Amino acid sequence: MEEIDRLLRADLRGATPYGAPQVDVPVRLNTNENPHPPSAELVAELAGAVGEAARAMNRYPDREAEALRSDLAGYLSRVTGQVVTGDMVWAANGSNEVLQQLLQAFGGPGRTALGFVPTYSMHQLIARGTGTEWLPVPRLDDFRLEPEQAALVVREHAPDIVFLCSPNNPTGTALGLEVVEAVYAATGGLVVVDEAYAEFSARPSVVGLLPGRPRLVVTRTMSKAFAFAAARLGYLAADPAVVSAVQLVRLPYHLSVLTQAAARAALGRADELLGSVAAVVGQRDRLVHEIRAMGLEVVDSDANFVLFGEFGDQHATWQGLLDRGVLVRDVGVPGWLRVTAGTEDETTAFLEALRAGLADAAPPDPDDGRMSA
Ligand SMILES: Cc1ncc(COP(=O)(O)O)c(C=O)c1O
Repeated sequence: MEEIDRLLRADLRGATPYGAPQVDVPVRLNTNENPHPPSAELVAELAGAVGEAARAMNRYPDREAEALRSDLAGYLSRVTGQVVTGDMVWAANGSNEVLQQLLQAFGGPGRTALGFVPTYSMHQLIARGTGTEWLPVPRLDDFRLEPEQAALVVREHAPDIVFLCSPNNPTGTALGLEVVEAVYAATGGLVVVDEAYAEFSARPSVVGLLPGRPRLVVTRTMSKAFAFAAARLGYLAADPAVVSAVQLVRLPYHLSVLTQAAARAALGRADELLGSVAAVVGQRDRLVHEIRAMGLEVVDSDANFVLFGEFGDQHATWQGLLDRGVLVRDVGVPGWLRVTAGTEDETTAFLEALRAGLADAAPPDPDDGRMSA
């Protein structure tokens, strides 16, 4: 152990890996997945597509994933109204891998990446993994970002890469396009907008801002609204020069023929897969409404999860919910917990567990108005 520690990069010593708990409990609402599994017809279609692809298993897959990128471009053009072509799209094993490739190409030792915290924890972890210095900047009190404030901070720090996340994980807060415009204008670096949860939001996509902004990158995933997390497929849209740059660092044949085939089959049935979005959004709005009715705070959310609090000891509340069979996420924001919108039954189970936990807890402290649960 000590021997390995000595060999490990100094900047990784003592670090902890990404670790959303994978606990086997009846109700898992901690990793923002879509709770609706694929239909039997879709499973059959996926199996057919994967089976067909398996015939060529002796050969390496299309290294550039041309057909898949063209399908993704078609999907993005359709949902954003902005013409996106295959050469503007790059795909990898989850948007995490896309983000890692971006940092390998544009970050690295001696370079900096700035993010507005709290935000998606992997932005920091991928920065660390690639030797990129992480510059965390706190969000405004209610987790918002304002164009002038964000631009000011970016100008001051002059990072090589700025991460924006919209809707933001874990707060659910969506960004106005004016924030992206202001941040882009305030930096000569790369601006990466993580739109993993875009399909749950009614706001216009940042993809519409791509024309004339060669340093702007939008990352997306099929893990959330598409209900395709296990397949691992994420992608980016940007100027073709950004795609050429990530090709310098990607491993050859990184995207298996099975993944490419499955993703293409799923994209062919995008309307069916995205059909569950309305139900998920309905449960999200129910969460907001019912948690507020319990006297707690909930941050307005454009995603498939909500951040709720405030608790004197959020970890105790997290444990109390787990003891009642419901797994939510303690994202390390003091006082707050994050819960994913599940099926109607899962959401009901969570709300009942929360209600029961609050009833068991000591009454609110009149001095600070916080629940002591
Ligand atoms: C904001 C954000 N970006 C990216 C991801 C990664 O998604 P994936 O690697 O599954 O595409 C997540 C997953 O939770 C996320 O919350």
